[in-house]
Parts: sequence; structure tokens; C-alpha cells
Amino acid sequence: MRKYRRKYYNFFSHFYDFIIRLHSQDKSLYLRHYLAKRSGVQDRHTVLDLCTGTGALALVLSDYVKDGLVVGADFSEGMLAKARKKVMSLGLKNVKFVMADAGFLPFKSNVFDVVTCSHSMYELTGETRKRALSEIKRILKEDGRFCMMEHERPNNAFIRFLYDIRILSMGREGLNIIKNELNELRQMFSDVKKEVTSTGRSKLICAQK
Ligand SMILES: C[S@@+](CC[C@H](N)C(=O)[O-])C[C@H]1O[C@@H](n2cnc3c(N)ncnc32)[C@H](O)[C@@H]1O
Repeated sequence: MRKYRRKYYNFFSHFYDFIIRLHSQDKSLYLRHYLAKRSGVQDRHTVLDLCTGTGALALVLSDYVKDGLVVGADFSEGMLAKARKKVMSLGLKNVKFVMADAGFLPFKSNVFDVVTCSHSMYELTGETRKRALSEIKRILKEDGRFCMMEHERPNNAFIRFLYDIRILSMGREGLNIIKNELNELRQMFSDVKKEVTSTGRSKLICAQK
């Protein structure tokens, strides 16, 4: 399954940014800034953007971490190639990308101030999901913070249908994840809080290590 998802994202990397622009009508940039602000990132922080894709959130985070470092990790070389191209063309020195599976993060323990994950936690199922959550906790500093953003179940019936298909495509586990995600996070982190963004289309969940 993981191998298939990687291949899917390697292929999808060629259209990903275009489709996101089309789909979100530029609300995605607003949401990424919102996530960055709520994550509490500061100038000298070291931040990991997990499942960074084409690096959209990593680039936004780099604005908030001028004297720190943003690391974007993803298991798709296609998505990372797009991300690296953007960073090169902007000449950013404080963003690096690393190819890694979310379940096996190649970082020392207690090194990141903040870990973010945008629209990717629902990609992670089964053993990978369990491992990823404990890896996030392991690499966060003692006062570190984890913030994830995902789509909220849409109000519009047709969009809700598409959303439900996406969740069901994850198998039975998809529905369980949605029902139990706050409990799942509370077993691992403290001060877990969920909020729905002003667009009503996304939710943000943040927690302390
Ligand atoms: C829907 S995209 C989101 C990308 C980006 N975070 C954003 O908000 O635009 C999901 C990303 O998760 C990555 N991904 C999925 N499973 C992964 C895993 N097990 N380890 C690392 N990356 C993974 C995919 O390669 C893809 O880039």
C-alpha cells in the first residue's frame, strides 16, 4: 500500500500545485499562514513539516523562522523535487528537504520545537500511523508542539460525498481515524485542542508533547 501511495504521489507531483490552486481558490495560502501562526513558531525555532509534499507549508513556515530551520520530510521523491525547485528559485537558506517515511524519521530525539502536518495525517494508517505519532513525540523537544490540519467534513452534499469517498478509500480504518483522532492524540500528547477554521472547511488540531 505504501509503495502504491509513493508511486501515486510521484506521478501526482506534476499536477499537485495546480490542482490545489484550482480547488482552494487561494484559501490554501491563508490556511497555511493560519497553521503557522497557531503552531507558535518563532524566529530561532527548528521546525519539521511532516509529509511536506511540494513544500507549500514549509515555505510559509520559513517566513516565521528567519534565524532557524525548517525541514520538510516526505517519502515521494517527485513531490520533494518540486519542493526543492521552489526553494532554489527563491534562494532560501533556511529550508531543507529530506526523503523519509513518516514512520521512520531520521532525526535525533528532542530536536524540534514544532512539528506540523498539513492535509496528510489521513494518509497515515495502520502501523505507519502509530509509528508516525510516536516518532513525532520522540523528535519534539520537551516543550514542543504538534499541529495538524485536515479537511473538516464538508456541509455541501456533493463535496461531502467526495470527502467520504476519500475517507472510505482508506478502508474501514478511515472512519475510525476520524471518530477517534482526538482520543488517539490525547493518549500520546497533552493539551490537545481542535478548532475549525473560519472558512469552515478545515480543522486544526494542536497539542503539546
Ligand atoms: C495530500 S499531500 C499533502 C502535501 C502537503 N503537506 C500540503 O499540505 O500540500 C500528502 C503528502 O503526504 C506524503 N506521504 C504520504 N504518506 C507518507 C508517508 N508514510 N511518509 C512520508 N510522506 C508521506 C505524500 O507523498 C504527499 O506528499
